[in-house]
Amino acid sequence: MSRTFYITTAIDYVNGKPHLGHAYEKIGADVIARWRRLMGDDVYYLTGTDEHGSKVEKTAEKAGLGPQEYVDSLVPAFKSAWSGLNISYDRFIRTTDADHAQTAMKLLELIRDRGYLSEQKYEGWYCDGCEAFKTDKDLVDSKCPDHPTLDPRWIEETNLFFKLSEFQDQLLAHYDAHPEFVSPGFRRNEVLSLIRGGLMDVSISRSRESVGWGISIPFRPDSVLYVWFEALINYLTGAGFGHDSDLYEQRWPAVHILGKDVTRFHCVLWPAMLMAAGLPLPDRIFAHGWVLTGGEKMSKSSGVGVEPVAMAERYGADPVRFYLVTQVPWGKDGEFTWERFETTYTAFLANGIGNLLSRSVSMAIKYFDGGVPSGPTETRLRDLCEEVVAESTAAFDALRITEGSAAAWRIVRECNEQIQARAPWAMAKDESQREALASFLYGLLESLRIAAALLSPVMPTKCAALQDALGCSDDRHRQGAELLSWGGLIAGSPLSKPAPLFPRLDQLLAE
Ligand code: MSP
Repeated sequence: MSRTFYITTAIDYVNGKPHLGHAYEKIGADVIARWRRLMGDDVYYLTGTDEHGSKVEKTAEKAGLGPQEYVDSLVPAFKSAWSGLNISYDRFIRTTDADHAQTAMKLLELIRDRGYLSEQKYEGWYCDGCEAFKTDKDLVDSKCPDHPTLDPRWIEETNLFFKLSEFQDQLLAHYDAHPEFVSPGFRRNEVLSLIRGGLMDVSISRSRESVGWGISIPFRPDSVLYVWFEALINYLTGAGFGHDSDLYEQRWPAVHILGKDVTRFHCVLWPAMLMAAGLPLPDRIFAHGWVLTGGEKMSKSSGVGVEPVAMAERYGADPVRFYLVTQVPWGKDGEFTWERFETTYTAFLANGIGNLLSRSVSMAIKYFDGGVPSGPTETRLRDLCEEVVAESTAAFDALRITEGSAAAWRIVRECNEQIQARAPWAMAKDESQREALASFLYGLLESLRIAAALLSPVMPTKCAALQDALGCSDDRHRQGAELLSWGGLIAGSPLSKPAPLFPRLDQLLAE
């Protein structure tokens, strides 16, 4: 049996409801998961929530709830956001799940038995916002630059340490041997300079007195696992490590998708933990940028008013997915504004692909008795589609989803331009052009079919509606070359005038 394409996202802290920044990552990973399924892979997509640690513990306390009660009350908001946005995950993991505690202990014991734990005294700063230890040089005016409203806490504890410092050379060797390990390339370079700058051992236990909410360490009473060390292990839990070795063999290693703010943990600490345990490293790690609002990272507080669930209810999930994938370049940062969102909807969706579908189908029905016309091959559009399929496939395969979608979009743009340039309504008046008109209209419909297939990972619902309108619902069961090769649309298949794919905004919002 072939290996599973195992894809994961970072798991979100449950100290508030999910915002558009969280949604961005889950959508991006979903596009990749759907793309791989389209290519015929067996895919397993893991996402979930990071529920332990002092940040969650404190927020629960403020809400007057016990931590378990508090996280239980918030998790449904994450699940319903992801279902509203059509995220096709296979498991929603919670770090309070029983199998996770089991896997975490198994990994910890392996690392201990291989000699990579030690007891050391820790003295230093801790930022609850990052859930991370900080050195003096990490702080600016005594504050963590990412959490300027919080006061870092001074901590003095004798803790269990992970000997991260011993992995510098091995990590560098791995990066050297696997240039694709971390992308985009500029993130890889940042991580490399971090590793070259030297690594310090990491405290991986916390006393119950300072943080009560975490997974207990059986061989160290009164201690819980440091939340980052524990949370990273969720990727192994999802693969079945420690409780189902067949599954684990099938799934591991993973492709990890996460934000640029958490690369230090994923690209340095995590691979070192796996090396310490003697396990294979992830296949690839992709660090995306941030959804910004007013130039700042969208967050719990700045995200108020752009709740993903409300947006999906109002506009449909696909326009939200489309905006984030095409307008916030995957790997870089991008701004969200309502104005830009609505302009994108109108220009690309209502007037772009929606109008193209309605014009092409209407003309085929009107001029060719309601069926897909047949004629000699329309080489211009066929050549474009073949070029785009190759380009889009290469980009999606390399996890570059914005580029993959932009390539597919060239088909939509070119078809609309060709309609203007060739004026099929004029061709229809000239009997000598009948064959040319049939070829052109077949070419438009076939190009749309291919564009819909390529864009279906981004807009699964609307592209399925498009396939229905073209009379090729079977495409939903096709994969790879069979789906993406020119000529899939059968001449003579009946067409019927579809409802507007993307109603105009004034109509949509009046409903
Ligand atoms: N719990 C840790 C991750 C542990 S993974 C083993 C965490 N949680 S988080 O809730 O703060 O962030 C979760 C993910 O959402 C991260 O990858 C983070 O980069 C991403 N985003 C949070 N806000 C974001 C934006 N405004 N834009 C894009 N993604 C950002 O870190």
